[in-house]
Amino acid sequence: MTSPFDQRVVLVTGCAQGIGQAIALEFQRAGAVVFAADLDAAALKAFASRHGMHDLAFNVGDQAQCHQAIEQISRQTSRLDILVNAAGGVRGQVGGPVANVTPAAWHAIFEANVDGAFWLSQAASSLMQAKSFGRIINIASGAGLRPSLTGIQAYTAAKHALVGLTKQLSQDLGPMGITCNAVAPGFVRSNPSTEKQWEAYGADGQARLIAGIHTRRLGTAQDIAHAVLFFASEQSGWISGQILSVDGGRS
Ligand SMILES: NC(=O)c1ccc[n+]([C@@H]2O[C@H](COP(=O)([O-])OP(=O)(O)OC[C@H]3O[C@@H](n4cnc5c(N)ncnc54)[C@H](O)[C@@H]3O)[C@@H](O)[C@H]2O)c1
Repeated sequence: MTSPFDQRVVLVTGCAQGIGQAIALEFQRAGAVVFAADLDAAALKAFASRHGMHDLAFNVGDQAQCHQAIEQISRQTSRLDILVNAAGGVRGQVGGPVANVTPAAWHAIFEANVDGAFWLSQAASSLMQAKSFGRIINIASGAGLRPSLTGIQAYTAAKHALVGLTKQLSQDLGPMGITCNAVAPGFVRSNPSTEKQWEAYGADGQARLIAGIHTRRLGTAQDIAHAVLFFASEQSGWISGQILSVDGGRS
């Protein structure tokens, strides 16, 4: 029996930890050839070699590095079917007053969450166009639809920008057989920053957060991965420009 993603070539960014890793693993289990990417070369290599994936260490905020990464995939496989832009996050920052935000902090979050998704989509789309098939899936956030639990202004602005980019790329790339959608995760304990955030809520805050989720549990990185594979599937070919909240339902 063939697997649903047999022979499909997938690039997943943000694979040094958390959600990116869960997405890469789900694709691999489903038979895809996985290229895992991240800025953190050591953690990425450890993950990729443990699971027999290709690894590409680069900064998604740099257009030239993004294009080089796609060229390398093209040289090795002559195709790229699915791009998942999961790199991003808060870059070690915490929420604070508007007056304290520096240009460096602001730009670091935009580079990771928005610039990278655009430069990689730009490079990937010409390769996808050649096969008249492509799936681009951006990992947005509840912070792309409303103010963020993190209180980080740049994060909220960047994820809203990613939502807008998803809709624009859907319109621009749809005629080439490429769909573009986004998954907007709710809070997932997936990395040291979210562990700190969870601790900071305290017992009462944690109980309130869970009480506000219809399914009364926190999500997992695998919950997010399942939604990504849905958008990446053959069967999702007439779904594009959509933002799917994966958050257990939210009151
Ligand atoms: N964990 C949550 O609660 C949650 C909720 C909503 C959205 N998200 C989003 O899901 C995605 C994955 O988040 P996560 O929680 O697994 O961990 P994370 O946000 O810490 O992981 C992001 C990964 O991206 C990598 N990265 C950051 N900047 C990069 C750059 N310039 N170039 C290449 N790689 C870079 C980091 O090294 C890290 O491994 C992120 O986009 C995040 O914003 C997470």
